[in-house]
Amino acid sequence: MSLLYTKQLTRAYGGVIAVSDVDFSVEKNSISGLIGPNGAGKTTLFNNVTGMDIPTSGSVHFNDKDITGVPAFKISRLGIARTFQNIRLFKEMSVLENVMIGRHFKSGRSMISGRTVNALTSYMKMKSEEKDVYDKAREWLDFFGLDEARNEAAKNLPYGNQRELEIARAMATEPELLFLDEPAAGMNPQETDHLMSTIRRIRDLGVTVLLIEHDMKLVMNICEHITVLNYGKKIAEGNPSEIQKNPLVIEAYLGKED
Ligand SMILES: Nc1ncnc2c1ncn2[C@@H]1O[C@H](COP(=O)(O)OP(=O)(O)OP(=O)(O)O)[C@@H](O)[C@H]1O
Ligand SMILES: [Mg+2]
Repeated sequence: MSLLYTKQLTRAYGGVIAVSDVDFSVEKNSISGLIGPNGAGKTTLFNNVTGMDIPTSGSVHFNDKDITGVPAFKISRLGIARTFQNIRLFKEMSVLENVMIGRHFKSGRSMISGRTVNALTSYMKMKSEEKDVYDKAREWLDFFGLDEARNEAAKNLPYGNQRELEIARAMATEPELLFLDEPAAGMNPQETDHLMSTIRRIRDLGVTVLLIEHDMKLVMNICEHITVLNYGKKIAEGNPSEIQKNPLVIEAYLGKED
């Protein structure tokens, strides 16, 4: 069953059609890849599915619900989390605080205040939620092997750990579907190997993973299904061996021979 799918998704910026008429789907409990040359529309597709941008036309469906145009914070509560192409950590804050922020986002704690709620109930709830936020953040740090570094400023972690910390923060919202935009960018081969095993462990928790990635070793190693975009259009989809021998894909990456 497709956990997520788009129907004829299109996003135009003036004359630039960044995503053009794309039918795209992600199967439940899979690790899927979205690839394509620079400017192919991969990040735009992510943004339009996660509510950070609004499609020009077409629709997005998650768990059989039409979520087209639903804002990002609501989509997060529905169970989709993401990381970004460029690191977006709170660099001066501790590793633990970075993950607690993800957790706060899930609990929607900022919604508790207000005149409708009795002040005492509100206070008690806040205290118990704070403990929940703390405990769960520690559990996620443990999963990522980062708990010992929890009091370090995020900026002091080695690069590979910073990128995994972003994934930890996304996982703290306990998503059903996790989007990763170029998670291996800038990593050395050891960090990439570690990341691959982390992504597999996340999938083994029952979470569906969709990643954009230029590192073909990573993509071909861990993705069961791959979709290829070029100039905003879907040009191919299939398993890694099908994709590697697809002439349209080879041409998109290498250019046509004269
Ligand atoms: N906000 C925007 N306004 C105008 N054009 C945009 C905007 N966002 C993206 N584009 C254009 O849409 C196209 C697709 O960009 P996108 O960032 O989705 O590509 P990408 O596949 O993620 O590329 P990369 O691999 O380099 O990250 C590009 O031509 C880009 O310049
Ligand atoms: Mg991109």
